[in-house]
Amino acid sequence: MNLEHLKPEINAGIAALGSLRDLIEYRNSLVGKKGTLTEMLKNVASLSPEEKKTFGKSLNELRTDVENQLTIKEKEIRENELKTAENRFIDMTVPAQWQSRTQHPIKIVQSDIIDIVTRMGFSLWRAPTISTEFQNFDALNIPSWHPARDMQDTFWLTDGRVLSTQTSCLQNHLIKTEPKPLRAMVLGSVYRNEKIDATHDIMFEQVEWIVVDKNINIGHLKWTITTILTELFGYTPKFRMRPGYFPFVEPGIEVDLWWERDGKGRWLEFMGSGLIHPNVLRQADVDPEEYSGFAFGFGLTRLAMIRYGINDIRLFHENKIEFLEQFAVG
Ligand code: PHE
Repeated sequence: MNLEHLKPEINAGIAALGSLRDLIEYRNSLVGKKGTLTEMLKNVASLSPEEKKTFGKSLNELRTDVENQLTIKEKEIRENELKTAENRFIDMTVPAQWQSRTQHPIKIVQSDIIDIVTRMGFSLWRAPTISTEFQNFDALNIPSWHPARDMQDTFWLTDGRVLSTQTSCLQNHLIKTEPKPLRAMVLGSVYRNEKIDATHDIMFEQVEWIVVDKNINIGHLKWTITTILTELFGYTPKFRMRPGYFPFVEPGIEVDLWWERDGKGRWLEFMGSGLIHPNVLRQADVDPEEYSGFAFGFGLTRLAMIRYGINDIRLFHENKIEFLEQFAVG
């Protein structure tokens, strides 16, 4: 086996890299867990001793060469980015001019939602960054042995607490301590141990509604979802409700939005919802014979992506002025 033919291709690949993100992706595609060179290395074991020696050696040389080139390239890209930032010279002595104000897209959808639900009489809450295992899981009918724990790849702290994986982590506290009828909305940043790509990030913004009162049924849930979606989009978007599994609601319902772009449409999974599980009420010292409730929640990040046609979740945290400048709010 010969590796010589790979070199020009790789060199050209590296020379063409223009951003840190491309660089990381390219590095992964070569020497990451499933990278081309990594896969080749795995195959070395099956070669004859003689081949192992020569092929193994040139593969290692190639790997080292690639790593070195990538390090140099990374430095070059970082320096370029710094230069571009420095060149954005601001003359502080020029008299102030009116400038259009921009806001982060997440902030815009968040303000819209806050505006809508405060008019509907909901109280506003913020989910904690760090939750106890009880708040985030056990109180939500997800004991440690429950397979549903695996649905959310969790960042555990050394003291046994977790970075909140869902805004539902505030349910127990609210149901237990707030007077009934309860109508609350919870905003929060939630954390999951994801491999970052265009549609996954380790942190995203969620929002959740909780209602506990007497005689609450699915009709109330559907009405509230319809009202909020209509207010958010300015028209009633086409959506469907289908069975979905979340241990803290029964029945559990998944809501999909109909999403059309360039003449093509498809269903997008959009929110989780359902009637609050009797166990969750009991855990919060509320008698399920007397009270019932519903909850639903979705990613604000997802909403902003749909609303503005943003196709890469990483853009939200990269702090690129070119991206942020597009969101004028007046
Ligand atoms: N917490 C769920 C999630 O993060 C969403 C959900 C909220 C489901 C409320 C049901 C009720 O996936």
